[in-house]
Amino acid sequence: MANVTVVGAQWGDEGKGKIVDWLSNRADVVVRFQGGHNAGHTLVVDGKVYKLALLPSGVVQGKTSVIGNGVVVDPWHLLTEIGKIADQGVAITPELLVLADNATLILPLHRDLDQAREAASSQKIGTTGRGIGPAYEDKVGRRAIRVADLADPEALKPKIERLLSHHGALRRGLGLPDADAGELFDQLMEIAPKILAYAQPAWRVLDQAKKAGRRILFEGAQGALLDVDHGTYPFVTSSNTVAGQAAAGSGMGPKGPGYVLGIVKAYTTRVGEGPFACELQDEVGQHLATIGREVGVNTGRPRRCGWFDAVLVRQSVAINGIDGIALTKLDVLDGLKTLKICVGYKIGDKVVDYLPAGMRDQAAAEPIYEEMEGWSESTAGARSFKDLNANAIKYVRRVEELIGAPVALLSTSPERDDTILMRDPFEG
Ligand code: GDP
Ligand code: IMO
Ligand code: MG
Repeated sequence: MANVTVVGAQWGDEGKGKIVDWLSNRADVVVRFQGGHNAGHTLVVDGKVYKLALLPSGVVQGKTSVIGNGVVVDPWHLLTEIGKIADQGVAITPELLVLADNATLILPLHRDLDQAREAASSQKIGTTGRGIGPAYEDKVGRRAIRVADLADPEALKPKIERLLSHHGALRRGLGLPDADAGELFDQLMEIAPKILAYAQPAWRVLDQAKKAGRRILFEGAQGALLDVDHGTYPFVTSSNTVAGQAAAGSGMGPKGPGYVLGIVKAYTTRVGEGPFACELQDEVGQHLATIGREVGVNTGRPRRCGWFDAVLVRQSVAINGIDGIALTKLDVLDGLKTLKICVGYKIGDKVVDYLPAGMRDQAAAEPIYEEMEGWSESTAGARSFKDLNANAIKYVRRVEELIGAPVALLSTSPERDDTILMRDPFEG
């Protein structure tokens, strides 16, 4: 009986939220281990839409939900999200939600810095503007404020002073006014009791769950190509998004993550700036965007769309140690006469079968496509593999072959139950 780790295998928005929600039924605990409220996870249950950013997608099924130490937490956002989801009928109690006491806080000054840098930069990343990058910078710079600091006002004061002395120089360079230490202290003290109600040593909660034989489901945010090491650097997010991070970002040890399920969209999308070899600027790209409703959950930005890139996903299978995939949004390809799959890149006069690390190579990579016949039948809402037409099955099989991983789950609509189980990830 394995634990399962769900990770995005492309540039995010593959449908992780839907799959985590579906799998939650088979799990006892759901854990976020990196990222923050830059994530936007959409769940659709009987037509009701839930949009989660920071809360693990297990909350809707009432599973113990853990925000691990690897997550950066905007405490004001957390309270707002808890309020919104409560309005939809999901009460978030301290019995349900565990917030790691050693998680790093995102503060208003991180958001300021993120937005001011993007506005001033000649090489924009296209961040979500939510302070994610600057908060991780302060974490590795050993000057961050953490959840546990809210319980110790005397220790918090000098920590704030130290943090502000660092940010003062940065803010002045960007033309921002100095942040006020007293004001930040008061703001933090005001929310401290509400946040501390959820704070616990998450590693201990998970250790106890493990010893009690509970099934743990790790929920990744973003995707492998946004990983700070393995992604299209510098057009990435500021955390490791790969499955290995599930161990460090939760405090469970390297065997914790168990079966690694990569979530793979049947085509490719990306939000924000950066290289994207298979991007389509034509009517097919428009078709994918419209039928796939490809709009950012948090920022409302249109997502860039393109053909399936098997080179990227094969790389993602390797760097994550993916055991199987959930292939999502197959239905969005319904009605396209011809489908293309990228099987290699041409970079100058070289042909390569992986995405090189260099920024100029990544930008120069031109896709080498193979073509497949599409299908006119609908796959939307299919709940059994036998309901798929022959060409759709061929497409699925070709994807498996090219990426070197089997399909464990297939998703055919945003609805929770429009999901085909091929093999149970919890059974390994
Ligand atoms: P996440 O960030 O990986 O959780 O994905 P998002 O929620 O940001 O984006 C995925 C979008 O696709 C959401 O609007 C989902 O409701 C939707 N979705 C998920 N699976 C499917 C599917 O199989 N078919 C269709 N048409 N939509 C899907
Ligand atoms: P989910 O979990 C898609 C992108 C941003 C930007 C880059 C850096 O919903 O898949 P950041 O604010 O993290 O510093 O922005 O990363 N990005 C995402 N793109 N899905 C996400 O999350 C993303 N989270 C961040 O658009 O390009
Ligand atoms: Mg998303």
